[in-house]
Amino acid sequence: MKIAIGNDHSAVELKNEILAHLESRGFEVLNVGTDTSDSVDYPLYGEKVAKAVVNKEADLGIAICGTGVGISIACNKVKGIRACCCSEPYSAKLSRMHNNSNVLCFGARVVGSELAKMIVDSWLDAAFEGDRHQRRVNQLGELEERF
Ligand code: RB5
Repeated sequence: MKIAIGNDHSAVELKNEILAHLESRGFEVLNVGTDTSDSVDYPLYGEKVAKAVVNKEADLGIAICGTGVGISIACNKVKGIRACCCSEPYSAKLSRMHNNSNVLCFGARVVGSELAKMIVDSWLDAAFEGDRHQRRVNQLGELEERF
């Protein structure tokens, strides 16, 4: 499985830790940047992660900014993306099981690296349950089409 990962300047260090963690677990990683501390705009990096997922260059995406909020909003502007901003593992796990989230976001200024790894692992180790949740996810797609 391939994971796209992207971030703004606030999250370079955490991104590198998560990237190494993913590789240590055997995932292939597509790093879309940024890789320096020069100030960048999070919507651009949210878009890069989201595009990699909808274009099937990656199976799932992880996007990190200072809070996780801005970059998750950016990802959710891309049709087909269900990004969730999670600061703890329970929501991350349920976002896969119930919402079939395809991008995980969190904030480098909110969570430490060990908690971030737990969030990532809970998300990656969970599976979509389908059934009634599929109906609701379909409704999310329909909502996207209406506006
Ligand atoms: C950048 O300073 C900061 O605004 C950004 O990382 C993020 O937190 C936005 O939602």
